Amino acid sequence: MKAPFKFKTRMLTTVLSSALVSSALLLAPAAKAAESVEVLHWWTSGGEGAALGVLKKDLEAKGVTWKDMPVAGGAGDAAMTVLRGRVTAGNPPTSAQLLGFDLRDWQKQGVLANLNDIAAKEGWDKVIPKALQEFSKYEGNWTAVPVNVHTTNWVWINKAALDKAGGKVPTDWNGFVAMLEAFKKNGITPFAQGGQNWQEATVFEAIVLSLGTDFYKSAMIDQDPKALNSAKMVTAFDRLRVLRGYTDANFSNRDWNLATAMVIKGEAGAQMMGDWAKGEFLRANMVPGKDFVCIRFPGTQGAVTFNADQFAMFKVGDSMRNAQNLMAIAVEDPKFQSAFNVVKGSVPARTDVSDKDFDDCGKKGMKDLAEASKKGKMFGSMAHGYAAPAAVKGAVFDVVDRFFNSKDMKSSDAAAELAKAVAAAKS
Ligand code: GAL
Repeated sequence: MKAPFKFKTRMLTTVLSSALVSSALLLAPAAKAAESVEVLHWWTSGGEGAALGVLKKDLEAKGVTWKDMPVAGGAGDAAMTVLRGRVTAGNPPTSAQLLGFDLRDWQKQGVLANLNDIAAKEGWDKVIPKALQEFSKYEGNWTAVPVNVHTTNWVWINKAALDKAGGKVPTDWNGFVAMLEAFKKNGITPFAQGGQNWQEATVFEAIVLSLGTDFYKSAMIDQDPKALNSAKMVTAFDRLRVLRGYTDANFSNRDWNLATAMVIKGEAGAQMMGDWAKGEFLRANMVPGKDFVCIRFPGTQGAVTFNADQFAMFKVGDSMRNAQNLMAIAVEDPKFQSAFNVVKGSVPARTDVSDKDFDDCGKKGMKDLAEASKKGKMFGSMAHGYAAPAAVKGAVFDVVDRFFNSKDMKSSDAAAELAKAVAAAKS
């Protein structure tokens, strides 16, 4: 006992009671947590919070204290507003959760720290998929660490509702509509939806993908006006209206996790949402295959739209570099990648993590992603910031939202407006 505390006992005068000495000894381990990170993020739902807990615990075990900066609001729009305010005021957080093109904006502004040293030491170039590196790096420099890969073209179905509806998993559009129709006959809301622009866009982009991978690429990635204002786009809007017809009356402004809760409780049959929805099912102790079913949106089998949450490190001074490095290394640790993504619903952001701890939906997610990537069928999600910069994304959201909330806007008008709005956003 004596030797390690010589320094302290020399400093403390003998007037200190032995009780005080022992409380000083009790504080000693806390010195380990000298580093701290303030992290801005939008993970406030039950499943997201559980996943975040895995990260917090991991960092705290490594002596890094977590200062939480949550900004509620699915897909992070509200978080981006708060982040802009913080950076403009000269008070950026240590790190922030960012998606593709938003990350690019901050990189261009030169406010992010350079992580090349640890990237080289940890060998990230070899294990992080190129599609993610394209955003993690700017002009060859690492500025952010991807924590996961989500894919957005999923349907989450309540198993009991599906069984009542005949038990057949749909594989094409007609089958999908037949399933929704059967839910309706059974007296439950067929389609759980939240009327927020990004949720509508998540449904819309899956419909676009189901009309062909070339079509998704030319419309959403290349934003070719001919694809945006095309017969196929008219079909996409027609289908969006069909799905709108299967929502309940209270969909307006409903949060995505509340729509998921409707499926969990069996009040609704299905939801189209990225695989963060799985985190909510797991939190409700539901088991894939038994209590709920995950399928790719019919017509999109073999292809994926993806987004990856990345933690960007801001330039907050040399004194914070060690904490930032510790966080970056922890996030890319293969064991952590498995533990975190098992809870979050996403899949690892490294190619060398085993799927053995993942449930059936997670295993399918990993397999689908690997196959789609190999076949050139892995595309950035428009709804989640990996297809286009914020201005273009906003233009798409605006038209899709107006269409979704209107009963009489014509699909052909929506397609024409989409091409016009995107062109204006790009100019
Ligand atoms: C996505 C994000 C996910 C998820 C979702 C809902 O954009 O990548 O991690 O949490 O928003 O908030």
